[in-house]
Amino acid sequence: MQKTEDHILVIFGASGDLTRRKLIPALAELLKLKMLPDRFAVLGIGRSKYDDGSYRVMISKHLGDRSGILPLLHYHSMDPEDGDAYSGLADRLKRLSKELQIAPNYIFYLATPPLLYGSIPRLLFAAGLTKEGEDRWRRIIIEKPFGADYLSASGLNRTLLSTLSEQQVYRIDHYLGKETVQNVLVTRFSNGIFEPLWNRNFIHHVEITASESLGVGSRGGYYDHSGALRDMLQNHLLQLVGLVAMEPPTVISSDAIRNEVLKVFQSLRPITGDQVSKQVIRGQYMASHVRGEAMEGYRSEKGVPEGSRTETFVAMKLFIDNWRWGGVPFYLRTGKRLPTRVTEIVVHFNSSPHSLFGQQEGGTGKGNALVIRIQPDEGILLKFGMKVQGAGFKVQEANMDFHYKDLTDSYIPEAYQRLLLDCMQGDSTLYARGDAVEAAWRFVDPILKAWQENHDIPLHGYPCGTWGPEIADQMIEGEDHTWRYPCKNLADDGLYCEL
Ligand SMILES: NC(=O)c1ccc[n+]([C@@H]2O[C@H](COP(=O)([O-])OP(=O)(O)OC[C@H]3O[C@@H](n4cnc5c(N)ncnc54)[C@H](OP(=O)(O)O)[C@@H]3O)[C@@H](O)[C@H]2O)c1
Repeated sequence: MQKTEDHILVIFGASGDLTRRKLIPALAELLKLKMLPDRFAVLGIGRSKYDDGSYRVMISKHLGDRSGILPLLHYHSMDPEDGDAYSGLADRLKRLSKELQIAPNYIFYLATPPLLYGSIPRLLFAAGLTKEGEDRWRRIIIEKPFGADYLSASGLNRTLLSTLSEQQVYRIDHYLGKETVQNVLVTRFSNGIFEPLWNRNFIHHVEITASESLGVGSRGGYYDHSGALRDMLQNHLLQLVGLVAMEPPTVISSDAIRNEVLKVFQSLRPITGDQVSKQVIRGQYMASHVRGEAMEGYRSEKGVPEGSRTETFVAMKLFIDNWRWGGVPFYLRTGKRLPTRVTEIVVHFNSSPHSLFGQQEGGTGKGNALVIRIQPDEGILLKFGMKVQGAGFKVQEANMDFHYKDLTDSYIPEAYQRLLLDCMQGDSTLYARGDAVEAAWRFVDPILKAWQENHDIPLHGYPCGTWGPEIADQMIEGEDHTWRYPCKNLADDGLYCEL
């Protein structure tokens, strides 16, 4: 384990939901595991009027038995939009460094609404707080979403990079912090058996699903401006595509890995014009009964306008135009109010060239599949054909599977734990680089534009508790294959229709 240098972690948005539910608990875990530096403090920033004591009391309600972190928490009340307030912040940091004998290394974590992601770094710079020196480093972590389209993302990059170096900027994609996402790289590049098959000659298609069983809950107002394409596919799902499809990096270093991910994004075949309605299906959940329980439709959720046309489901067929993947379809889907919460990657291999044990003898007729389960029940499963005992050569599909939970020393840290620790150690491998974020937006932008401008592109309704609009099934089924369904539709009623 690399030694983490002493520093102060400054969290903007410290009174918010993310800080309470994710960031402080992740720090508390790191403390328990003795992974925080010997001299370390958190300085929470917000307009809310707390002092150190009352802030600790507020946070303690969310920590359960992990209260060891509380003495390390401090609070400084200020409006992050007020430029004059930053000299006060600089003084507070100086005092804290001196009192606690912490070297003047700072991480600024921006856990505020995204409209402040450009202005806070600019004001920090103006107050001299992002300037590095021999004896000090300064880093900035930016939460998602990083822009709402190509223009805003590239504008934000320009703003950040006008006062900071790329090495100082850490763009969060919390999927990359998940152990099992990182395991995609290890599975591919530490095993001699997969990589020779990992290309267009042996792989028929790849499926990536990230489903949620919950609806938008209290975040309807935020979600309605975003939608599934922006909220999940542009970032998390494309990052998974990047890891599945990238070439082996020459070394395991931040730049080497992120260079290869960028090349994948640059090779995505643009989906434009007529192709949008053929290759991208959008849907919105409608009221239904799931196991007898009534579920509200999206348009009845709090904060969602009555006639909203925001998609809560998106399925996409995409191609990567390079030598490894030419002609191999990648199918992505994500949505809310689906039957279960699961994220998995399924690599479908070609079926054997000559079917010796054909369908009539009970053969599955399908190729092998490798399922990489990101969450829950993290693990890897290989599907293959096995002889049914007894006379003849009947074949049945069998699973060779590994579950992380079966490891005796199994411990899967929360994504934020790993990401915070990496930033503390100056390792940005698991953070998105500016050019890759822009390339991902460049791919998604024409789809957003087509949806906005062409009202003939349908928005399909799907009942809560189903796997999205039926038409999304046809996108794969049309080619003799189906999505993998980790569980069946759960809706008792409901109609699929165009909204
Ligand atoms: N919550 C999650 O699970 C989650 C997950 C992934 C990403 N994120 C991202 O992380 C960021 C923070 O999320 P959150 O849910 O914690 O947000 P939040 O609760 O809405 O906001 C965080 C804090 O920001 C401050 N704030 C709000 N509006 C402000 C304004 N106009 N000017 C200055 N300060 C303002 C508030 O503190 P004061 O009133 O005390 O200033 C608030 O407590 C968001 O950008 C979100 O997209 C959140």
